[in-house]
Amino acid sequence: MPEKVVLAYSGGLDTSVAIKWMQEKYGLEVITLTLDLGQKEDFDEIERRALAIGASKHYFIDAKREFAEEYIAPAIWANALYEGKYPLSTALGRPLIAKKLVEVARKEGADAVAHGSTGKGNDQVRFDVTIKALEPSLRIIAPIREWDLSRDQEIEYVKKYGLPVSTEKSKYSIDQNLWGRSIESGPLEDPWAEPGEDAFEWTKSPAEAPDEPEYIEIEFEGGLPVALNGERKPLDELISELNVKAGMHGIGRIDHIEDRLVGIKSREVYECPAAMVILEAHRDLEKLTLPKSIISFKGLVEPVWASLVYNGLWVDPLREALDAFNEKTQENVSGKVRIKMYKGNFMVVGRSSELSLYVKSYATYESVSTFDQRAAPGFIELWGLQTRLANAVRRKIGGHT
Ligand code: ARG
Repeated sequence: MPEKVVLAYSGGLDTSVAIKWMQEKYGLEVITLTLDLGQKEDFDEIERRALAIGASKHYFIDAKREFAEEYIAPAIWANALYEGKYPLSTALGRPLIAKKLVEVARKEGADAVAHGSTGKGNDQVRFDVTIKALEPSLRIIAPIREWDLSRDQEIEYVKKYGLPVSTEKSKYSIDQNLWGRSIESGPLEDPWAEPGEDAFEWTKSPAEAPDEPEYIEIEFEGGLPVALNGERKPLDELISELNVKAGMHGIGRIDHIEDRLVGIKSREVYECPAAMVILEAHRDLEKLTLPKSIISFKGLVEPVWASLVYNGLWVDPLREALDAFNEKTQENVSGKVRIKMYKGNFMVVGRSSELSLYVKSYATYESVSTFDQRAAPGFIELWGLQTRLANAVRRKIGGHT
């Protein structure tokens, strides 16, 4: 019996060549697996293609709900933006694909799993680390990394075997899921060149966005969005809908010089309309409902969470420990946030919560304030004590003050 391999199959050129190649050169039986993470593809067509090329069996898993609830949700709690800019869309998807590869491999009694990552990026790390941690006995085949085939060689191979896959050169390398669309390569490799409009699919050009602003309301419970404009819906559906709404206003374009784990600096362009709006709304609601002590401490661990996930350590115990901390902080992060969207921009313009720490009668400049101002001078006396002492010493030794 030939050895079995389960391949994460996108339907594109690389993984299509991989099916045939692993059969022909390695004599493997190839089972393909495609996950719906919200990338809006024709999954029937992908299945037909996999079987036509020679897969012995195809698995399709709709993993949108699981992706939103188990992967995007903790990213929202963590206000996760890698290097302050990237909401980690691709980075969050990879460990889930890896986990499903392992599950299918176990079910099928497969000896190996395979993925289409190159040897130059982060995705290989995210796949390999997760697979090795979950099931060390599986062999990992990364055909693209191993063969170093040029595009022309791939096209020649497709022609030789008449594989039913398009060989048209796509200008960009794209990865998409609910949390965003990553666009790389081609003309974007010049960091000085502005991305052309043809790089974008989810977002309108701000110049062509509606001339009227649109207001939306997002309701949160326990730090997660639960309703959009008053309509409750599951997180994956809410994100999908918001991608369309915010994208229409040209919101969510990101242009980033990014540090890959393998040391390469790369120019990355993203479209993440829902992610950008939700993260901003969430951060705003935290400011209303959390004490300063939590906001400032949590701010220290947020970039740690983002780097950990970017760098492929989703299955590391530190991520779980940080999730436990973040989750605890979210108990009171419930309420509504109102957002105004207009021509590529958006702004939180209102927030409210039953659990708000904002007390109007303290903050008001009106005379009805309940804040006892008589306590302030005594507080200032103690607050500035050491600062005053240090300045007194400076004066004594003749330093400038
Ligand atoms: N730079 C991003 C990351 O490492 C996106 C990678 C996207 N991959 C792609 N095939 N375009 O998460």
